[in-house]
Amino acid sequence: MSDNGSLVQTAASAEEVARAYEDNKLAQVLYHDWEAQTYDDKWSISFDERCIAYARDRFVAIAGDQGWPYGRALELGAGTGFFSLNLKQAGVLDEVHVTDLSPGMVEAARGNAAQLGFTVEGRVADAEGIPYDDDTFDVVVGHAVIHHIPDVEQAFREMLRVLKPGGRFVIAGEPTRIGDWYARQLGRVTWKATTTLTQLPPLRAKWAKDREALDESSRAAALEAVVDLHTFDPDQLARMALRAGAVDVSTTTEELTAALLGWPVRTFEAAVKPGALGWGWAMFAYGSWKRLSAVDRVLSRVLPERLFYNVGITGVKPG
Ligand SMILES: C[S@@+](CC[C@H](N)C(=O)[O-])C[C@H]1O[C@@H](n2cnc3c(N)ncnc32)[C@H](O)[C@@H]1O
Repeated sequence: MSDNGSLVQTAASAEEVARAYEDNKLAQVLYHDWEAQTYDDKWSISFDERCIAYARDRFVAIAGDQGWPYGRALELGAGTGFFSLNLKQAGVLDEVHVTDLSPGMVEAARGNAAQLGFTVEGRVADAEGIPYDDDTFDVVVGHAVIHHIPDVEQAFREMLRVLKPGGRFVIAGEPTRIGDWYARQLGRVTWKATTTLTQLPPLRAKWAKDREALDESSRAAALEAVVDLHTFDPDQLARMALRAGAVDVSTTTEELTAALLGWPVRTFEAAVKPGALGWGWAMFAYGSWKRLSAVDRVLSRVLPERLFYNVGITGVKPG
């Protein structure tokens, strides 16, 4: 099984890896358990002002800034805790419960919470069958998670079940159908151009990633295609939440020019030798992303929302 190197590194057995290609939930667990150890570095996740502001701004764009702090909060597919731990630091959430299908991610999130001095409850949980009682939470949040869930409408039903009447769900950072298409095209072209150019003799020593690391990246990309299940049209996403029983449903899209820059930049960073790009590059990338995001906020007043890369959705449990 030549494509399985990344999963095998998780200490998953060869049988588990073979089954993972038939059983999507198992693939999600193996892939995200493997990612858990390096996830924060891969996505430049931190728990400082930069990511606190990013998480707060995504929340505000989707659900506004009223009613803070939400008392009891549940995060689904929390990963290493990027969204809810930063929202807690921003004063948006109070009591945080982190959950994820991947035990490795729950452990990583609990570790990050402990480092921040927070006591948070962490559980392994499938968003299609949340292991909490009805009417438990004031808010349910998620970031970049529902595109991994086979039955998204069932996940919305579960969010509404565990919310108290009048409680709100806020799901951010999901790929739109059109945004995902152009992001992947740009990523593919950037990967090919970078890995070809960095093999040229004058560039190789400083910039080229070694063969083993490139092979590992290709295997990871193949697995990503297995775990990334959906892209969303904002209207269809809203209809799904309404069918699940939510009221006051609205969607928000963000990032057009920021994504057109962001995806090539992220792919370029992954395609060159680790450490070749310095702090100056990181500041240039983040500064450019922020400036283009401001342009996108203006464009969002005139362009159709389905052209933007990210979609977020909020809705309320009838009170
Ligand atoms: C792209 S990561 C996002 C992690 C984190 N929310 C963030 O933004 O950094 C998606 C997460 O969803 C989790 N996941 C996948 N399927 C799930 C399911 N059915 N229920 C709950 N979590 C799931 C994965 O294990 C992974 O940690």
